[in-house]
Amino acid sequence: MTNESKESKASSLERDSQDHPLERYADEKHAEDVHVHHAPKTFGDRFAFGFVKFLRVFADAFFANRYGHRAVVLETVAAVPGMVSGAMLHLKCLRRMEDDHGWIRTLLDEAENERMHLMTFIEIAKPSKLERALVIIAQGFFYVWFLILYLISTKSAHRVVGYLEEEAVVSYSEYLKMVEKGEVDNIAAPQLAKEYWNLSEDARLTDVIRVIRADEMMHREVNHLIANKIKKEDADVKIYEDMSEDAIAKLRQYEARQFPD
Ligand SMILES: [Fe+2]
Ligand SMILES: [Fe+2]
Repeated sequence: MTNESKESKASSLERDSQDHPLERYADEKHAEDVHVHHAPKTFGDRFAFGFVKFLRVFADAFFANRYGHRAVVLETVAAVPGMVSGAMLHLKCLRRMEDDHGWIRTLLDEAENERMHLMTFIEIAKPSKLERALVIIAQGFFYVWFLILYLISTKSAHRVVGYLEEEAVVSYSEYLKMVEKGEVDNIAAPQLAKEYWNLSEDARLTDVIRVIRADEMMHREVNHLIANKIKKEDADVKIYEDMSEDAIAKLRQYEARQFPD
């Protein structure tokens, strides 16, 4: 592979925050994108799925329908795996002296994108002291737990993220329904969100939820794809090269798609 084609692959995997016109998310033909589910096939898949469903029980019990607060706390957790996976792949590429084929940047972009979700929801729902304490405890456990899982089984770690993103899509869809029904005020979108997603000046909360949900769909696709491609538990750097063609095709296909209201 030439340096030029490597560069174009790397840059094509980068997320362009300006490339999110809201119109792309307004086509009901793609309603199925909201309901995508990877059926667990292996023991690791079932473990990942069970773990995420277990977390969902706690989130439902603690937050119930307070979706703004749920988003604040859960986005602090969602922003961890991309940074851990990116750092681990970076270290592996250094040890093996091999190219990452643009994947370190993709994983770090995911972490940054999740942090922007957090910064957006901080403007919408102010966390209580209890929720701030919960974030600190959750981060302590989840960071260590995810790192250990990644070291034991990179495949299962990415599968966990794939399932977390499936749940995020479901939660944001429920949140969107509540706002549309008028059960939650459809307030003006925070300025930060308008700038980051290139939304119009009169954008509302519903617009913000739609673009964030589309981000979660993208994370879901990318992490399930990585988990599918890893044959054994540990990802050889080589698989990232093999995966690039498929991933770029998938991401381009995804970028061109439109998402439901
Ligand atoms: Fe998120
Ligand atoms: Fe996500």
